[in-house]
Amino acid sequence: MSGRRARIVGCGSALPRRVVDNAAMAETVETSDAWIVQRTGIRQRHIAGEGEKTSDLAIAASRAALARAGVEAEALDLVVLATTTPDNTFPATATRVQAALGMTRGCAFDIQAVCSGFVYALAMADNMLRLGQADRALVIGSETFTRILDWEDRGTCVLFGDGAGAVVLEATASNGATVERGILSTHLRSDGRLHDALYVDGGVSSTGTIGHVRMNGKDVFKHAVNNMAEAVLTAIETNDLTVEDIDWLVPHQANSRIIEALCRRLNFPIERVVVTVDRHANTSAASVPLALDEAVRDGRIEAGQLVLMEAMGGGFTWGSVLARW
Ligand code: UT7
Repeated sequence: MSGRRARIVGCGSALPRRVVDNAAMAETVETSDAWIVQRTGIRQRHIAGEGEKTSDLAIAASRAALARAGVEAEALDLVVLATTTPDNTFPATATRVQAALGMTRGCAFDIQAVCSGFVYALAMADNMLRLGQADRALVIGSETFTRILDWEDRGTCVLFGDGAGAVVLEATASNGATVERGILSTHLRSDGRLHDALYVDGGVSSTGTIGHVRMNGKDVFKHAVNNMAEAVLTAIETNDLTVEDIDWLVPHQANSRIIEALCRRLNFPIERVVVTVDRHANTSAASVPLALDEAVRDGRIEAGQLVLMEAMGGGFTWGSVLARW
């Protein structure tokens, strides 16, 4: 299909300064470094400092992405920010980012799809750029997820961390060929019947409180492998590719055992998977762009390569984005 295509022209990320390792977690709940590493692969997580907000992390990641892209904030006409932990109930945290960057035109809004948020945000921005509704977008995943944890629940509090990642997207002319650089396809899915497997037990219209994360870990684990495999295979099949064609898989970083199970299911070599869960833990909507930024900065991801991003989160929501770098 000819027309327009959205290309990622720069990435950036930001992590809170404070790092908490598993040994420190074991001082607050009954757990151990050995249990956490063996069951999840997580060794440490970054935790936002007092007063450090989702918008602060988002702004820092966005500035880094804009600098690497060589794009001025005034040239942007769209900001899509994925978060489960906004600064305020309203307005959208994206509007804070817009103002801080000095961007006065276009539009900015938030998207809520929990851990799939960045993939959803990228799909929204890609659609808008291809339709001509915007020319240059900033797409962000940013979380202060540790603010909604129950620090007495060892089954969840050891799993999550805070952070932000951002990409700059630019519209380019396209003849529709898969050899062209840019986003080749996006696929989004959800199944609301599984709402209660992973949710927060509070909210504006239910309890009037913020609430805490509640999870049936085993259920989430099983569905995560199935859904992420489906998201990957849908992207590959839609583009008439094979698993061997994919240079890098950038999965949601929830648990190294989920990533390994996914690789076994897909027969995908673990050497071509970007893994940051050991250092970042699960940063929800920030996990994919944080991993992406790391692999771009250290030179693993190179121009012309096929990069497949995928995620799965509460809802359940899941999806994938395939891009020619
Ligand atoms: O973005 C999506 C977000 N969430 C996920 O992706 C999470 C998916 N699920 C998982 O990653 C895993 O299910 C967990 C890591 C959460 C748990 O691993 P598991 O192998 O499914 O363990 P389990 O829940 O079956 O618990 C096994 C045991 C239990 O003890 P008993 O009942 O066997 O005596 C738990 O109470 O481990 C215990 N346990 C812990 N022990 C030490 C649970 N959490 C901890 C802990 N430290 N932090």
